[in-house]
Amino acid sequence: MDTEILRPTSQADFARAADLIRSGALVAFPTETVYGLGANGLDAAACARIYEAKGRPSDNPLILHVSDLAMANQVTSYMPPFAAHLLTAFAPGPLTVILPKAAHIPDIVTGGLPTVGVRCPDHTAARRFIRTAGVPIAAPSANTSGRPSPTTAAMVHADMAGRIPLILDGGSCRLGVESTIVDCTEEGIVTILRPGAITCEMIAAEFPTIEVRMDAALTEADETPRAPGMKYTHYAPRVPLTVYAGVGDAVTAALRAEFMRRTAAGERPAVIASNETLTDLGEIIPSEHMYNCGARGNHSAFAASLYDALRHFDESDITSLLAEGTGPDGLGLAIMNRLRKASGGDVRFV
Ligand code: TXA
Ligand code: MG
Repeated sequence: MDTEILRPTSQADFARAADLIRSGALVAFPTETVYGLGANGLDAAACARIYEAKGRPSDNPLILHVSDLAMANQVTSYMPPFAAHLLTAFAPGPLTVILPKAAHIPDIVTGGLPTVGVRCPDHTAARRFIRTAGVPIAAPSANTSGRPSPTTAAMVHADMAGRIPLILDGGSCRLGVESTIVDCTEEGIVTILRPGAITCEMIAAEFPTIEVRMDAALTEADETPRAPGMKYTHYAPRVPLTVYAGVGDAVTAALRAEFMRRTAAGERPAVIASNETLTDLGEIIPSEHMYNCGARGNHSAFAASLYDALRHFDESDITSLLAEGTGPDGLGLAIMNRLRKASGGDVRFV
C-alpha cells in the first residue's frame, strides 16, 4: 500500500480523508499533542486495523476523538455535571476524560472496559477532519507500539509507511506530549491517570470543590496503572537511555563523567540536554552527538522536542543515550513520566 502525505487545505482534502475513514481505512492526523492513527470509532473492523498497524496489545483501549461536547455526549452513557464542567473549561484541549461508554461503542475500542476515553483536540485540522467524517475517530498515537509518539508527519511515515493510505500533515505538534488522562467515573473525583499539559494545579485552581487525585501507579512503582497503556514499555528509543535529574551543575557533572566513562569503554553515547548543559559539555562532546532541547527550565520547549530527540539518533551508529531530566513542576511531571518509561525506569537523581 502506498502511503500519501497530504497537507490539507481545501474542503475536498478533508472530504477525501473522511471518505477513507467511512470506508473503514486508517488515516493519521495531527493534533496539538501528537499525531493520531485514526479509524471510524463506530466500526469494529476499522478499529481492529489500528491494533494491527501498530502491533498494539488488544487489551490497551483506544480513545475517541470528538469535534465538540455534543459528540462527547453521544459516545458516553452518562456525563456527570462535574465532567461536563471540566470539558467546558479545558476542551478543546489536551485532556482525555474517562467516562461510562455508550452501548453502541464497539468493545474493541475500549478493550472490553465499560468506560471510554473521550478527547476533543485543540487543533483546527483535527476537528475539521472529525466533523467532516461525522463519526467519533478512535485514535491512539500514530507510532509503532512501544516507540516514541510521532510529532511530525515524517515521524508517522517512518513507522506507518506501507500500512496506511493517508497521513494528514499539519506540521509539528505544538505541545509534543500526549493529553492528560483523567478518570471521572467516581462522582466529584478527578483521578489523573497520565500527566500532560493540563496539570493537577490547573484543574484544582479552576474547580476548588473537585477532589483531584493522582493514580497511585504514577508515584508507587508496585501499583498497577488504571490506564492499561501505562503499564507497557513505551516511548523507547532504539538504544538504551539513562536519565539524570537534579540541580543543573550536578546533572552536568554526572553527564560529563558518564559520557567520558562510556567513550573510554569504546561505546558511542549521545546526549539529550538543555542548551546550558550542552554549552558546558561542548569541549568533550562532538556536536553531532548532542540534541538540544532548549533553555534549561523551559518545559514547553523540552516537551515539544522530546520525541524528536528520542528518535533523532535512530539512523546513527550511537550505542546509548544520556538525557538531562526536568523538575516535576507543571509540564515537567509529564516529561519525567515519559522519560521514566522511555528509559525503562533508569532515572538517576544526582
Ligand atoms: O494526546 C493524546 O491523547 C493522543 C492524541 C493522538 O490524541 N492519543 C494518545 O492515545 O496518546 P494512546 O492510545 O497512545 O494513549 C491512550 C491511553 C492509553 O494508555 C490507554 O490505555 C488509555 O489512554 N485509555 C484509553 N481508554 C481508557 C479507559 N477506558 N480507561 C483507562 N485508560 C484508558
Ligand atoms: Mg501512545
